Amino acid sequence: METYNQLLKTLEEFNQSHLLQFWNELSSEEQQQLTEDINNLNLCEVTRFFKKANDSIEDEVKKLDDRMEPVPSAQYESYATTSNEQLELYRQQGLEEIAYGHVGVLLMAGGQGTRLGVTHPKGMYDIGLPSRKSLFQVQGERIRKLQQIAEEKTGRKGKITWYIMTSEHTMDQTRIFFENHKYFGLDKNDVVMFQQGLLPCFDFDGKILLDTKSHVALAPDGNGGIYRALRSSGILTDMKNRGVKHLHAHSVDNILIKVADPIFIGYCVSKDAHCAAKVVQKTSPNEAVGVVCKVDGSFQVVEYSEITQKTAELKSSDGSLVFKAGNICNHYFSREFLESVADHHEDQMKLHVAKKKIPYVDENGIRQKPLEPNGIKIEKFIFDVFQFTDKFLTWEVPREDEFSALKNADSAGKDCPCTARNDLFRLHKRYIIEAGGIVQNGDVCEISPLLSYAGENLSSIVEGKVFNSPVLIKSPDEDL
Ligand code: UD1
Repeated sequence: METYNQLLKTLEEFNQSHLLQFWNELSSEEQQQLTEDINNLNLCEVTRFFKKANDSIEDEVKKLDDRMEPVPSAQYESYATTSNEQLELYRQQGLEEIAYGHVGVLLMAGGQGTRLGVTHPKGMYDIGLPSRKSLFQVQGERIRKLQQIAEEKTGRKGKITWYIMTSEHTMDQTRIFFENHKYFGLDKNDVVMFQQGLLPCFDFDGKILLDTKSHVALAPDGNGGIYRALRSSGILTDMKNRGVKHLHAHSVDNILIKVADPIFIGYCVSKDAHCAAKVVQKTSPNEAVGVVCKVDGSFQVVEYSEITQKTAELKSSDGSLVFKAGNICNHYFSREFLESVADHHEDQMKLHVAKKKIPYVDENGIRQKPLEPNGIKIEKFIFDVFQFTDKFLTWEVPREDEFSALKNADSAGKDCPCTARNDLFRLHKRYIIEAGGIVQNGDVCEISPLLSYAGENLSSIVEGKVFNSPVLIKSPDEDL
């Protein structure tokens, strides 16, 4: 009774006493469970979040056209227009940072893969490559290869620490998957998993929803939850202890991701950036990706829905779109900047609201699975910290080399397993041809990341040879 009274007092203060509506029907374990859930809520903060998020619903429909400008050219470079000598200098610098152990990868793997329709973490997904490697395996092997390349170049054996952000929904399965696959040949101590936070789901009036009579409805706090989680899980301290200074942060679902890309790292380090976004040119004004630009003088990613068609279609004198910098969830951060965000800015981050169909227990104690949106989830976005610095850079890369996202099931026909597979086949076929090989009878080509990170190191294996599709070229020691 004492617990009940205490909880009720706190909940009443925040207008949330309905959470105890079924208290008397619960077993003592269930009461304990609900008590834990409620005690884990920072009610003062989350109800403030609801208010702030609710206010921002109004703002979001406003178009930003009049307040937007493209990233200034001094802070925008493109792979395609950078000389080979300069690219090599960036690459060399990136490899040196890797060899000194200064580079870490921040993988965002807390999403639930709802659009793809899977019940396991997206990184475990096998997109149907001839090798049947999962996204996690491909990424882990790219890290292994890069460590090796950095050592060959510099004579120093440096490590890339792989920080993996999971959520309550993905943590256990991710950990077991990595253990079962022996961390894909990486040192287990260099793979560090941590969990992002959760926020309660609300109805439209600001009442927290119950998932069951003894459980609050909770959802991950978005990929921008990373800043708080880095501090609360001790990851910033871990980075400091290991001497990690530069982080490459990216989404789990891009099959072409150049993990810890030394050119990108070298570009950012040489210009002393706090943070940066790797972007691709939008395919058309209507492509539904966020655009990296400046709003009211601060760097920001503007969603497609926040621009009018007229602004989306604006062209520069060279014929390219003015707002062409398509965000691909691929970023650089200095550790210093991450620390300053976690310490000083996290609380000022924008809150994004998504109206969702959230299963809940109604006032009669019946669990409902709504067919229409009945409440909101609140999320933070990783890119909403760009505004906190001027030392921001943009690096544009060719889409066909670096970006093919896995978002949907094949039935959608885009950003799906089939397109991801084909984009990798096309790129790897090109690598073989560029190295002097011939591919015939089809286009299915896969080169193991353990052999080649980005098309290098292939001539001695493929030059003058003819390969019949399907082609799978492995590293000589791969199956040992
Ligand atoms: C993201 C970008 C969008 C970009 C697009 C390109 C954000 C907020 N949006 O959109 O600007 O055009 O990629 O593909 O970055 N994740 C978590 N925790 C969460 C939610 C997501 O770790 O709570 C991870 C996902 O596992 C994924 C990444 O964040 O690795 C991106 O999330 P997703 O929901 O797929 O973002 P998009 O809507 O595709």
